Amino acid sequence: MTTDTPKHDILKRSDGGAVIMDGNRLRDEIIADIRAAIVKANQPKVCLATVLIGNNPASRIYVRQKRRKATEAGMISHHVELGDNASQIEAEAAVRELATDPNVHGILVQLPLPQGLDTSRILNPIPPAKDVDGLTPASLGRLVKGEAGHLPCTPLGVIRLLERYWIPTTGKRAVIIGRSILVGLPLVILLGRKGVDATPTLAHSRTRQLAELCRSADIVISAAGVAGLVTSDFLSAGATVIDVGISRVSKAIVGDVDFEACRNIAGAITPMPGGTGPMTIACLLQNTLEAAKKLGVL
Ligand code: GUN
Repeated sequence: MTTDTPKHDILKRSDGGAVIMDGNRLRDEIIADIRAAIVKANQPKVCLATVLIGNNPASRIYVRQKRRKATEAGMISHHVELGDNASQIEAEAAVRELATDPNVHGILVQLPLPQGLDTSRILNPIPPAKDVDGLTPASLGRLVKGEAGHLPCTPLGVIRLLERYWIPTTGKRAVIIGRSILVGLPLVILLGRKGVDATPTLAHSRTRQLAELCRSADIVISAAGVAGLVTSDFLSAGATVIDVGISRVSKAIVGDVDFEACRNIAGAITPMPGGTGPMTIACLLQNTLEAAKKLGVL
């Protein structure tokens, strides 16, 4: 956190009364800190390698944003791109090359991969030291065991937002909607960890009386990818609601949370866009800086 930020300046309330949890602002703070750390260390070459396979338009946009922000943070952005018809062997070879390249400190393989490719066999060769996305079995195993390692970026971004906005978690009830490896499952573990000390409940498509369950929570985090799933009916007054969902409705990109309805009842709420998305990138870059430190670059 930048030290010259007035402590409560960030707690702006929206018209409806809820504090808006501004992911763009927090991302910018984190990037400024990373940049300052690299400058202070005499600008060593800290390198994030991104791998894009196939022609998914959304993935292309996400990778472009990650590369742009890496450069803004003072890092080297090394990019490897393979076409839609890349073979399993080609994809694995590309990752293995980055894994052994001493000039690369962090590796991100953008997901989802094109159909027909085995994601695990492509991700698994990433060594834990360079797994800045935190999604390999080794990193996820460390997370479960409470051992040091890189944490998955989107769940970590949610934790950083809760910290930065002074949302109390100790003893609080949290409902997480969605059981993906990318978001829901790691979040359950992070929220239940010592030091965070929330009581997480994992909800999913088979959960009954979801609205009622969420109303019993102090913190509702939705990562279901169902547009407008979370309505004001899901919240008790003053609850924190965090939107990690992304869906395409007509041409618009929308989240899981009906922002306009929920801002009137929530105590704090993430906007969409500008909430958790920017935080995923910020945490990826933080993980890359940590990777470079551990690998002796600064
Ligand atoms: N696709 C959507 N989110 C993510 C992410 O956090 N990491 C990777 N690698 N791919 C994604």
